[in-house]
Amino acid sequence: MKLASPPGTCAVRLQGCRRSFRTPDGGVYVALDRVDLEVRAGEFVALVGPTGCGKSTLLNLVAGLLPPDAGRVEVFGSPLEGINRRASYLFQQDVLLPWKTAEENVMLGLVFRRVPREEARRQARAWLERVGLRGFENRYPHQLSGGMRKRVALAQNLIVDPEILLMDEPFAALDVQTRQLMENDLLRIWQEERKTVLFVTHDLEEAIALSDRVVVLSAGPAARPVGEFPVDLPRPRDVTEVRLDPAFGELFRRIWDLLRGEVLRAFRLGP
Ligand SMILES: Nc1ncnc2c1ncn2[C@@H]1O[C@H](COP(=O)(O)OP(=O)(O)O)[C@@H](O)[C@H]1O
Ligand SMILES: [Mg+2]
Repeated sequence: MKLASPPGTCAVRLQGCRRSFRTPDGGVYVALDRVDLEVRAGEFVALVGPTGCGKSTLLNLVAGLLPPDAGRVEVFGSPLEGINRRASYLFQQDVLLPWKTAEENVMLGLVFRRVPREEARRQARAWLERVGLRGFENRYPHQLSGGMRKRVALAQNLIVDPEILLMDEPFAALDVQTRQLMENDLLRIWQEERKTVLFVTHDLEEAIALSDRVVVLSAGPAARPVGEFPVDLPRPRDVTEVRLDPAFGELFRRIWDLLRGEVLRAFRLGP
């Protein structure tokens, strides 16, 4: 097994982070406040919370796409300034270029880094094979299923060998079976590569099945982590099988006890 960084290193640290937005009526909405969070190198952390609580905003802080209004974001011990170059970002929506084939889409990150085209193509083919898309290299995105496009996007993220993978509800739009296959593939690749993963989802079962630790965000405004739960289910895991483990149900109940209150609160405060 390859270790991307020495074990125990802190890959991501948020300290006292606050982020607000202007509202259309000229007011200020504080989405996140007093957010403290640490993710160790090689750790798989799932972030759950009610819809609209600030999960994507938190991920955007770590990606360097949004600066915090207060507090600090550190990446491997250094303050983050601008875009987080050590992370790659997998969104819920498709961001593949429709006029490029699967292979050309996967090559992009290397081409931007001036890797010679033939080498980039070779690596793209290898990554497409690793995500189960051998034979689909020359298909355009519209010729692929939703699950296949996700696989292309995953290969596109991994080919640049990021130390940190930020994933924002990446599988939410997939049907259950495709989703479970993708989750198992993600775990397999994670086990081989040991990237640091911060995975956002509103689905508690998915969070437990995948992660080493589940962090629960409170309902907004001023959302912040209100609980964290280590997941010591054995690995390697099969996401379908692991749900049958009695320890899974036990953990689900404990986390849901906390999350349920936040979901109800978000619903009552909601738009
Ligand atoms: N760019 C923005 N401008 C104004 N409000 C925003 C912006 N981004 C997010 N928000 C608000 O911040 C809150 C958190 O949003 P978000 O992080 O997308 O939540 P989640 O991902 O948990 O569903 C929501 O109330 C949302 O409306
Ligand atoms: Mg979101």
